[in-house]
Amino acid sequence: MQSTKQQSGIEQLSSSCKTILGIVGSPRRGANTETLVDSVLAGAIENGATATKVNLSELNIAPCRACNKCQREGNCIHDDDMDTIVELMRKSDVWVFGTPIYWWGPSAQFKAFIDRWYGLDQRIFQGKQVILTIPMGGGNDHYARHTIGMFKDICNYLGMECIEAIVAPGMTGMRSAQENTRLLETAKEVGASVVKHE
Ligand SMILES: Cc1cc2nc3c(=O)[nH]c(=O)nc-3n(C[C@H](O)[C@H](O)[C@H](O)COP(=O)(O)O)c2cc1C
Repeated sequence: MQSTKQQSGIEQLSSSCKTILGIVGSPRRGANTETLVDSVLAGAIENGATATKVNLSELNIAPCRACNKCQREGNCIHDDDMDTIVELMRKSDVWVFGTPIYWWGPSAQFKAFIDRWYGLDQRIFQGKQVILTIPMGGGNDHYARHTIGMFKDICNYLGMECIEAIVAPGMTGMRSAQENTRLLETAKEVGASVVKHE
């Protein structure tokens, strides 16, 4: 995949019609979450999409302090990389969110990221298409149920359309996703179909 580094943790992967943004919430570069996000992006790129990928663990995203400055004054107390990500989100039609399951929930990096949505103008979420990729070590989908439920509720609340959840149990090694051709093909097809169908 052709890649242009914009800053550490953010890579533009292609340029051209529908824009797709991958957000990786695993701190392990090249492991299962990133592999799944990459496969969705690859399917989209092959069908003419412009793709960008963000690795949250390489960026500085401070946790929400619940100070409510965003509600009072319209901007966040934190001056960090969130603005850069929000601008990428704003410019994209489709968001591919990847988080590993940590204790039945999303990773700390991913949770910090979504908590910061609290301060955003909610119009940026409306009508966005969302694809979830969720690997986990456990042997069945059961471990992802709270995380999927959480995402579905957030999508409904903010007016996003959750079009697919790729749930991948049995990801016990760093390369488990890489070794699962069928899983990668499924992820690629999801990426392709989001570009082909409006
Ligand atoms: C702190 C921590 C908590 C975890 N909790 C769970 C869990 O509750 N259920 C599960 O199935 N796997 C759990 N796992 C395993 C990860 O979901 C699995 O290794 C996943 O592939 C990690 O994604 P990555 O390869 O992209 O880093 C946990 C891993 C860590 C490090």
